Amino acid sequence: MLAEPRTLAPPERRVAEVKRVERVGAYDLIVARDPIGPADPRPGQFYMLSAGERWGGGDGERPYLPRAFSFARVRPLPGDRGADLSFLLEDVGPGTRRLGELAAGESLALLGPLGVGFTRPADGRRPLLVGGGIGAAPILCWDDELRADAVEASILLGFRSAGHAAAAALFGGEPDVCTDDGSAGRRALVTEPLRAELERDPRATVYACGPEPMLDAVRELCRELAVPAQLALEAGMACGYGACFGCVVPTVEGYARVCVDGPVFDAEALA
Ligand SMILES: Cc1cc2nc3c(=O)[nH]c(=O)nc-3n(C[C@H](O)[C@H](O)[C@H](O)COP(=O)(O)OP(=O)(O)OC[C@H]3O[C@@H](n4cnc5c(N)ncnc54)[C@H](O)[C@@H]3O)c2cc1C
Ligand code: FES
Repeated sequence: MLAEPRTLAPPERRVAEVKRVERVGAYDLIVARDPIGPADPRPGQFYMLSAGERWGGGDGERPYLPRAFSFARVRPLPGDRGADLSFLLEDVGPGTRRLGELAAGESLALLGPLGVGFTRPADGRRPLLVGGGIGAAPILCWDDELRADAVEASILLGFRSAGHAAAAALFGGEPDVCTDDGSAGRRALVTEPLRAELERDPRATVYACGPEPMLDAVRELCRELAVPAQLALEAGMACGYGACFGCVVPTVEGYARVCVDGPVFDAEALA
């Protein structure tokens, strides 16, 4: 059932140094140096993040739980450990807002990499990468890795509007961009070009991350056309490492924890 590329996390929270925070259209891109963590997190894996300071109500308090974020890009440091990690964030609540306020030199507490990432397509199948909104984050590092190995991937990205579609510029090559309002790329749901691509050539493996309705539509389309798909899911997470069972999803073999059994699942494994 599991897609199993998993780099193990060091067993404790550590502190990375924020190198910069950039505004990318509607999103924030945080780049932080993690000097002792693994240099090879697997695309699709995630980190539990919190700000080193001011993470919650009052001065010196830390009442919030860390939040889960896919890494969007990794640049290994010289030597065999450590990496500059990028995270793409959408401000949807107090955690993402505080993280977006971080400045160069401040600390970012992290735990990870956690979960399992994407696996390569079976021989002869081309990778077809699909990102919806902030779900573009794990698609970006997967594209980076495939590109570095000279594996050609098609990339389809769907966003609400041009402000969000600015994230498409982070990708190498020329992703096919759709927006809900037609303000950038074509006006369509991302499943429309996906259907066209798969009907043209179904010898593909689909890799998708995005909002639940998008993932449901991708799963249904891939089932109809008998195309394998790997879906990176989101779920509310309290711990991130299997202890709280707050993140379970139903699968054909019973409930699975998104944080340790996923977040990447084969589409046909999901109930
Ligand atoms: C594996 C994984 C990877 C992820 N990767 C990314 C990533 O790369 N980038 C990114 O930006 N996010 C990512 N997320 C999502 C992110 O972890 C959550 O959105 C996180 O909760 C944000 O924290 P917050 O404090 O900003 O917002 P929260 O306060 O946690 O709110 C998050 C969202 O939930 C809604 N919400 C909150 N409480 C309720 C409620 N009671 N009922 C209904 N809705 C509610 C809010 O309106 C908001 O839309 C990922 C999540 C997972 C599990
Ligand atoms: S987040 Fe605690 S078990 Fe998954």
